Amino acid sequence: MCGIVGYVGLHQAADVLLQGLSKLEYRGYDSAGIAVHQNGILTVKTKGRLADLKEKIEKTDTCLFGKIGIGHTRWATHGAPSDVNSHPHSSENGRISVVHNGIIENYMQLKEMLEQKGRKFVSETDTEIVAQLFDDCYNGDMVETMINVISQIRGAYALGVLCSEHPDQIVAVRKDSPLLVGLSEKENYIASDIPALLEYTRDYYLLEDNEIVLLKQDGVTLFDLNKNEIKKEVFHVTWDVSAAEKDGYDYFMMKEIVEQPEGLRKTIFPRLCDNGIQLDHISLTEEFVKNINRIHIVACGSAWHAAIVGKYVIEKISRIPVEVDLASEFRYRDPILNKNDLCIIVSQSGETADTLAALREAKKHGVRVLSIVNVVGSSIARESDDVLYTWAGPEIAVATTKGYSTQLSVMYLLAVYFGKAKQEISLQEQNQYITDLKKVPEDVKSLLELEERIKVLAKQYAQSKDVFVIGRGIDHAAAMEASLKLKEISYIHSEAYAAGELKHGTISLIEDGTLVVAIATQQTLFEKLVSNIKEVKARGANVVAITPRGNEAIEKVADEVFYIPEGNELFSASSTVVPMQLLAYYIAVERGCDVDKPRNLAKSVTVE
Ligand code: G6P
Repeated sequence: MCGIVGYVGLHQAADVLLQGLSKLEYRGYDSAGIAVHQNGILTVKTKGRLADLKEKIEKTDTCLFGKIGIGHTRWATHGAPSDVNSHPHSSENGRISVVHNGIIENYMQLKEMLEQKGRKFVSETDTEIVAQLFDDCYNGDMVETMINVISQIRGAYALGVLCSEHPDQIVAVRKDSPLLVGLSEKENYIASDIPALLEYTRDYYLLEDNEIVLLKQDGVTLFDLNKNEIKKEVFHVTWDVSAAEKDGYDYFMMKEIVEQPEGLRKTIFPRLCDNGIQLDHISLTEEFVKNINRIHIVACGSAWHAAIVGKYVIEKISRIPVEVDLASEFRYRDPILNKNDLCIIVSQSGETADTLAALREAKKHGVRVLSIVNVVGSSIARESDDVLYTWAGPEIAVATTKGYSTQLSVMYLLAVYFGKAKQEISLQEQNQYITDLKKVPEDVKSLLELEERIKVLAKQYAQSKDVFVIGRGIDHAAAMEASLKLKEISYIHSEAYAAGELKHGTISLIEDGTLVVAIATQQTLFEKLVSNIKEVKARGANVVAITPRGNEAIEKVADEVFYIPEGNELFSASSTVVPMQLLAYYIAVERGCDVDKPRNLAKSVTVE
């Protein structure tokens, strides 16, 4: 939700800001803007994408030569996308300029207070209040003023502030929204995420809440809320710049689909050892696992779908009861938590606001938190008791693919680990699960070969009004992810249904030609699923089935069948999702949608 960048150094700030923002558009892309200090602050901003901002700069012949500035790409919360609601926002006198990611919850009271002092506002945003408040509190010292401002605002924020009276400084802070500092020789940066700065530096300070940064060309100083200096370790990034590039693919999403086998290998194999599964350095002893009363898995979006698959697999293998919650519900529902419970937090970005709040809720109750996170050093990773990273590499497309599939693989690892620790499975059974797990990356790879057939299918169904995805058990959990992929990038209405539940209402929506995708991997439920397929066929549906080889009988009832390799059916969601990712992708392409940046969405949801 919104990306911010700041730069101070030797080069033209505008170039660095625009380049940095181009790597942050996944966080929001309904408007963009930059402010550069050059004999006063010059701001250019516009509704639309970064390309529109660049065009505006060129068309208006705006000459930007300042070497310090801030930039923003927006996902609207307060006020529709428009030029005036775009960031950076300024104080009325133009002295202060602010970029913000997050929500200022008490902005109405502050606005009233500032209006009573005679200040006039031009936008509908909460951020303009910060600019005006900063100006109102300004005492000549940027850090002291920032401390004063954040003592008055409530909510979530990452802020970057420029002041016309300090042509050499940016002051920044974060609370519950991500922000990091990039460090380099005579050049320093702030940004919402590492890819924005990766081509300039590999050294970072990962900020904690309420740490204030004073950014100058010759150095960065960090302060606490009492203006005491803080020392911090430098975090060195080892991944390759190209990991965050498209590498010739039309869209990041396709690149990321193709990268799944590699991400799975990196996530699974280092955790397999001679005597079973070794979970990095996490401190869940056998003793602890034996005493787990209940597991709560909490997440949002696709990570929540991975959690539901996790529930089936963990319960089946380890017999530990698992509850799955949406983070936005968990945090407010006063969950019943016991000190012998384990909370598993799942998040690709490690920054999702509701998920982070759920983590804090669990910790407040003294519950141990294990997180499954992709972004190294992210807030969720740092605040958890233990972290298991999914080694998917940077994921840029808004719709997750490799993030989700690597989350699934960690669920499998945990299930087997718990099962063995609790002696619910024998050594032999454990070894069989490990053999099956090792096959997952190869199975996923083989499914990429379906691409050409799926392209043809996508053409056929690109103009569908509704699509239903049905399954039972794990297949229902997989159907949820399949359905979400389709709706988020192609804008076709789609629903996932537990196949047995269809006849309690939803079947009334099936008409002649409605596409129903039936996922049928659970052998004991296979015949029941076939009956459900017959029910929708009888009402005119066209059925595409996804099932393991060996189930050729399904060809008698389905119009088209995609086979997945035979394997352990507990791990089938890893395979069934692949044809659905490809189908969603090619339907979106066929409909002319912007696959990587679907309308109204953002990848990193750092507001509630
Ligand atoms: C957004 C993304 C989804 C993601 C969800 C949770 O909605 O578009 O792909 O699943 O956030 O994000 P997280 O980073 O916590 O996994």
